Amino acid sequence: MIVINVNGKDHRVDVDPDTPLLWVLRDDIGVTSVKYGCGEGMCGVCTVLIDGAAERSCVTPVSSVGESKVVTIEGLPEDHPVKQAWIEHQVPQCGYCQPGMMLQAVDVLSGGKAMSDADLATAMDDFTCRCGTHPRVLPAMKQAAQTMKKGGKS
Ligand code: FES
Ligand code: FES
Repeated sequence: MIVINVNGKDHRVDVDPDTPLLWVLRDDIGVTSVKYGCGEGMCGVCTVLIDGAAERSCVTPVSSVGESKVVTIEGLPEDHPVKQAWIEHQVPQCGYCQPGMMLQAVDVLSGGKAMSDADLATAMDDFTCRCGTHPRVLPAMKQAAQTMKKGGKS
């Protein structure tokens, strides 16, 4: 039996320790916002926060999580600057890749350090969005960065 903390709640799961966190989240805990894409750590759609760092859950064995806190998009407050900016800029299209992109944005912006447009674009380069939302991601990230700098949630 493995215990993992997801969105502030402990879950006991009876799985092989090598099972990728992605499948435990989806199949055992029922968090289906975390998507399967490549299964090889390349596309980013399975990204979650583990102790605040964006990680690819498809290549993260559940046993490696230990007592760390896992956060999916459901665990992000509705008034989080990244969620608000994504809504205001109408970033999502089909939505498939968006939870992963938003959680990556939370990680990238949470340090509060000034970043150029090029830095922000590079931080999202590895994400595959079949709908081509990247041009809206950049302005949303800039808005979220401004809000977080002014004292919004980080
Ligand atoms: S499904 Fe995990 S990075 Fe593609
Ligand atoms: S919004 Fe459709 S894949 Fe990114």
